[in-house]
Amino acid sequence: MDHFQYKNNELYCEEVPVGQIAGQVGTPVYIYSAATLKHHFQSIQAAFSELDPLICYSVKGCSNINILRQMSQWGSGFDVVSGGELFRVLKAGGGADKVVYAGVGKTDDEIRAAIEAGIAYFNIESEAELENLIDIATDMKREVHGALRINPDVDPETHRYTTTGKKETKFGVDIERGMAVFETYGRNEYVKLTAIHLHIGSPVNSTEPYVQAIEKALVFIETLRSSGFTIDALDLGGGFGADYVTGQAPNASVYAAAIVPLLRGRGLKLILEPGRSISGNAGVFITEVLYTKRGGEKEFVIVDGAMNDLIRPMLYDAFHFIWPIKVTDAFATVKRTDPVDLPGLKKTEVVGGICESSDYLAKDRMLPPVQRGEKLCVFTAGAYGFAMSSQYNSRPRAAEVLVDGSEVQVIRRRETYDDLIEAETM
Ligand code: LLP
Repeated sequence: MDHFQYKNNELYCEEVPVGQIAGQVGTPVYIYSAATLKHHFQSIQAAFSELDPLICYSVKGCSNINILRQMSQWGSGFDVVSGGELFRVLKAGGGADKVVYAGVGKTDDEIRAAIEAGIAYFNIESEAELENLIDIATDMKREVHGALRINPDVDPETHRYTTTGKKETKFGVDIERGMAVFETYGRNEYVKLTAIHLHIGSPVNSTEPYVQAIEKALVFIETLRSSGFTIDALDLGGGFGADYVTGQAPNASVYAAAIVPLLRGRGLKLILEPGRSISGNAGVFITEVLYTKRGGEKEFVIVDGAMNDLIRPMLYDAFHFIWPIKVTDAFATVKRTDPVDLPGLKKTEVVGGICESSDYLAKDRMLPPVQRGEKLCVFTAGAYGFAMSSQYNSRPRAAEVLVDGSEVQVIRRRETYDDLIEAETM
């Protein structure tokens, strides 16, 4: 479900024609729908309501401060992985008491700032990090809460770069070593180790890996409890899918149907860290066709957006549905599936202007014939889109726009050439 729909052969975001925004703000541009963000947040909340979860929106997916402010107003907490993300959350008015902080490489300064702010949990990724946290908290004489991130060695069946719950990855502590961690550090005066954290990968498009990981975590929690440790929360991390291809990802209620029965009556506060499932299809990327050309047997469509704006296709071979924002009747009712099977389409490679052959947004994609000046929509770009963008090839980053009903707000202006050199010494 999202609020990007074609009406009279033209793509709208909520009540606003996308072409109008592109005309006013220029391209490339990211456009987000507030109603879609809210819908996804509230669907997760409703699906898991029996367990009254703390939902900590994962900032890394889409971290514009205006979006964080909205999320906070709807009651969301936040999952952060750096001092910079915590800074954003606090600037956005997010409550530190609803912040969880993961990441294998927390620096001393970042730890101090998070203690100072009074975050809910440090999601601890190693014995060495825990020792350091104990040293800093003791030095500051501040009590903090920790969740030990365990690595359950479960295969989330996703891209190898976004698999985190398998043993050979750098994340968490092997579940077999978990008890030793609690025995060594679990009775500390300042760091209260009272929760378990899991995050197995992203996206996890089936429920089975969650079930396997939770079952392992529950056995571990019962062992800890029988050894006298108090464990009162379980953080399941993120990973719920988004709809890149229609019908591909389960919705929140499907995940909940598998997960809630396992956790009912366990005396565990549930924490969730969804990122992609909230912002993924709440955002699109609009780019303009600059040129078309032939190369051998291939038809190239060269656009003004590139891998510096949206790196997911080149980095993960990720699929993003692409379609013109204005279409003729013949192409108006397309479903977001690949391959699209309609007469008159051409097999096309959509590429950017960066000097690398890896710079593409789509390969072997069936598209209506397009012309210079036409605008294309890259769907499901609201998660890990702008957030992973860069200025590579000295390309100023795109603008970001938030639509709420008929209101349009530029939430990040397009960068200028001066922005490119702003931090450089002259
Ligand atoms: N919690 C932790 C500890 C995480 O590491 C992540 C994502 C999340 C929550 C949120 O996961 P989500 O609900 O968004 O799946 N750049 C990649 C995805 C990397 C995910 C990293 N961790 C992509 O574009 O697919």
